[in-house]
Amino acid sequence: MLRIGPHLHESRVIVAPMAGVTDQPFRKMCRSFGAHWLVSEMLTSDASLWKTPKSKNRLRFEGEAGPRWVQIAGAEPDMMAEAAAFNAEQGAAIIDINMGCPAKKVCRKAAGSALMKDEALVEKILSATVNAVSVPVTLKIRLGWSQDQQNAVKIAQIAEKCGIQLITVHGRTRADKFSGEVNYQAIKEVVDAINLPVVANGDIDSPEKARWVLNTTGANAVMIGRSAQGRPWLPAQVDQFLNSGRIEINPNLPEILSALITHIKELSYFYGEVMGVRIARKHVGWYLNECFSETPEEAKLVKSAFNRCETTKEQLAMVEHSFERVSGKETFCGSAGDGQQGSFDIPRKSRAGC
Ligand SMILES: Cc1cc2nc3c(=O)[nH]c(=O)nc-3n(C[C@H](O)[C@H](O)[C@H](O)COP(=O)(O)O)c2cc1C
Repeated sequence: MLRIGPHLHESRVIVAPMAGVTDQPFRKMCRSFGAHWLVSEMLTSDASLWKTPKSKNRLRFEGEAGPRWVQIAGAEPDMMAEAAAFNAEQGAAIIDINMGCPAKKVCRKAAGSALMKDEALVEKILSATVNAVSVPVTLKIRLGWSQDQQNAVKIAQIAEKCGIQLITVHGRTRADKFSGEVNYQAIKEVVDAINLPVVANGDIDSPEKARWVLNTTGANAVMIGRSAQGRPWLPAQVDQFLNSGRIEINPNLPEILSALITHIKELSYFYGEVMGVRIARKHVGWYLNECFSETPEEAKLVKSAFNRCETTKEQLAMVEHSFERVSGKETFCGSAGDGQQGSFDIPRKSRAGC
């Protein structure tokens, strides 16, 4: 069970905010398998940029189930307060503040985890944001600036004092970026230091790992990022395991194909076909890594053929064809019709523009 202000749900798994990944089509896929908590891609607090196509897309939530958990990023307390108020007016149920992103600058200003260096500024940002809205405000941090400068406990205490209602801790420092081991013990230190719900984040890639992380850190929930790429069922699967010890959400190939088809169509609908086709390449690549994990060479061939498709229709035909072949236990290498090892033939029906 996880409570965030007035929002209470049995799910203890949160889909991480990932710029360029957790757009509305991806969130819908995760929700369709049963994920409940999802944080949107970060939105700059600089309102002058909200008219750009990127920000406009990040502000789109129509037709999506709640709770709407919107992440904002910036370094100016007043701008963060305004961005929070604007998003709450637009229907955000929870506002998250990004102090976890390792990017040097967000919109030409130090932001994300770089802010953790300046505790006085952190306090100003958190107070201003909390005071600007009536919805709960949450915070996402790393362990600190670098291995030598870790202040997650201090930042968490400041956050508690400012009225933040939940903290997510990615168990790496900003300098670590995404390399090195996640320090779950350091997350436990944050759990022990404050009375807020804490979410443990970093390298959680299976139901068993999630359970181990919860037991090790004492955190209230886990957040899953990269492992959900190409596996939008993973958050729900982890959740089910944590709550019941069972794993029934475990899609077979036809179910994955059906998800893939829905995802490609949703991307085309959301972004328009030209952009949708491009963005689908990244997501489909991740699904293929997952489905062809034992035959990476084949995954490579299918990906390269898929990346040559120029329309949604061609992409759909291509994935259907690929999955038919996988479920028929055919191999792509050397069985593509021309007898050449390592070749992959584009299906006849979609050959035209691919
Ligand atoms: C492509 C990508 C984009 C990300 N974008 C954001 C973001 O917008 N806001 C944020 O707080 N963290 C962002 N992150 C960090 C993730 O939310 C998460 O903290 C990190 O990936 C560690 O979790 P994981 O090991 O489960 O992936 C991003 C990570 C990736 C890989």
